[in-house]
This record gives sequence, structure tokens and C-alpha cells, in this order.
Amino acid sequence: MNCKQILEQKAKQIDEYLEQYLPLEKEYPSIIFEAMRYSVFAGGKRLRPVLLFSACEALDGDIKKAIPFACAIEMIHSYSLIHDDLPAMDNDDYRRGMLTSHKKFGEAIAILAGDGLLHHAFEIMSDACVKYCSNETVKAMQAIAHGAGVFGMLSGQVTDVISEGKQIDEKTMYFIHKNKTAAMLQGALKAGTLLAGGTEQQVKMMEQAGEKIGVAFQIADDILDVTSTFQELGKPVHSDEKNEKNTFVTMYGIEASQKMVETLSEEAITIFQKFGKKADFLIELTQYLMKRKN
Ligand code: IPE
Ligand code: IPE
Ligand code: MG
Ligand code: MG
Ligand code: MG
Repeated sequence: MNCKQILEQKAKQIDEYLEQYLPLEKEYPSIIFEAMRYSVFAGGKRLRPVLLFSACEALDGDIKKAIPFACAIEMIHSYSLIHDDLPAMDNDDYRRGMLTSHKKFGEAIAILAGDGLLHHAFEIMSDACVKYCSNETVKAMQAIAHGAGVFGMLSGQVTDVISEGKQIDEKTMYFIHKNKTAAMLQGALKAGTLLAGGTEQQVKMMEQAGEKIGVAFQIADDILDVTSTFQELGKPVHSDEKNEKNTFVTMYGIEASQKMVETLSEEAITIFQKFGKKADFLIELTQYLMKRKN
């Protein structure tokens, strides 16, 4: 099996786990569960849970313990996409090949579905912390909270939005990508490492590798926004131009941006290599993402 096929297989397994955490409830307004499920099960590469599991595996951790955290991080990611697509943010009509949440359910329910997924994610993680009663689980939740919150994704999204139509410097450009995208990938890798009982040094190494693959992932997203198609991506192309976004493509051009994706990916691979044979999948995944088409 090649990396793409392995990823698809892993995504299927993750969907089954997610299904257990997102049933259709009868005693609560069904619309919110429908809307949460609509966005989560619209598809998606499931990259963040895959990273969390792969880091855990690289350190011989217990995958079963990682399931609630992997599901939670995908729910947080799905919430961030619902809100990112809202008219007040990127105003996009399609996501994962389907109408965006606000187009399907209206803005109020879309906002609430995002809120619902975020809170549900923390309920799932805190339930796991209570169940396992261990420092590792609490630290994994902390890593995910940090990646998603105001010291991570949220500040990246804020800076992205307030920089629209403005000239920004290289440092700000890097800040946006590091926070809006890399922070969640770092959270996933760190959580997987912590759940496997990794050392402080190992967590630090995963954090560094996560920054590199995360920034590379967002640069690739910027390139695909210009070079790909709606059919391939399942979301609108030229969204960045429409919103006068600052991207690596507008700052450095496509060719230099692609080179940066390669350099950052190679630097991440050098870090993953230090974890030995069990981290081989993380290396394969990084190589695959470097050339990704969607
Ligand atoms: C989209 O993330 C948002 C970015 C950070 C670029 P993904 O490209 O991982 O989207 P899905 O989950 O596969 O839909
Ligand atoms: C958003 O970046 C990253 C998030 C934190 C959701 P983009 O706005 O470029 O992501 P897409 O292109 O809409 O998926
Ligand atoms: Mg955006
Ligand atoms: Mg967007
Ligand atoms: Mg984009």
C-alpha cells in the first residue's frame, strides 16, 4: 500500500471512532447534532488524528488511550473550518466537497455547530482524563488546548483576518502560518507523544517537527488555492485572492514557496529520523504531504 492508501484506511478507522462520539441525540435539539455530524462526516483527510496516533505509535504508546484525543482534535479542526468559512471570515460556500455549514443550516446554526464541536471535544478529553486519572492524559489535553487556543490557532486566524488587504512583513506572515495551522499539528504530535509517556526532550522534538510540517502544510494550501481545482480540493480555489489574503504565494511566488515546502519537510524528516524505525510512517507521511494534491 502506498501512503495515500494507508491514509485512506486510517481515515476510515478514525471515522468509526468519531461515530461513537457523535451519535444523533433524541432528547436534545436534533438540528445541532445534524449540523455537527454534517461537517465532521463530510470527509477530510483526518491528518491531525493520524499525526496524534502516529506519534503515539512511534513511542510504543497505547493507541486505545489516544482515541478520545484523536477524535477531539478532529472535532476542534472541524469547528475551525466551519467558522473559517463563515461570511464574516473567508465567506466560502463549499468545504470537503459539500455546501458549507452556514449555506446548509444558516449562520446561527453553523456558529453553534462550531461551538458545539469545540465544547464536545473538551468534554470527551476531560472524560478520558477522569477515566485514566493520569498526568499524561491531562498533559495531552493541555497540548491540544494550547494548539487550538489564543496562543495557537486562534491568534493565527485573528492575524490572518486583520491582515487582509494590508502589507505585512515576513515575520507576521510566518506568525500567521505557524499559529493558524502548525499549532494544531504540533498539538496533535505533542499529545500523541505525551500519551505514550514521552520525555520532555521528545515532546520538544515533536513540537519542532510539527512547526515545520505545519508551516509547510499551510504553504502548500496557499499554493493549491492558486494552482488546483474545486474538484480536486472540495473547496473553492482563489479564495485567498477574493479575500485579499497575505499568503506565501503573494509574498514569495509559487516556485519559491514550493521550495520552502520541501526544505521545511526535509528538516522535519531529520527530526523524525531521531525516533528510529517506529517513526517511519511519520517520515512517509511528511514526504507524501510535501507533494500533496489536496
Ligand atoms: C484545511 O485543513 C485548513 C488548513 C489548515 C489548510 P485540511 O487540508 O487538513 O482539511 P481537511 O480536514 O482535509 O478537510
Ligand atoms: C485556515 O486557513 C486554517 C484554519 C485554521 C481553519 P485557510 O482559510 O487558508 O484554510 P482553507 O483554505 O479555507 O481550508
Ligand atoms: Mg482562513
Ligand atoms: Mg479559509
Ligand atoms: Mg486556504
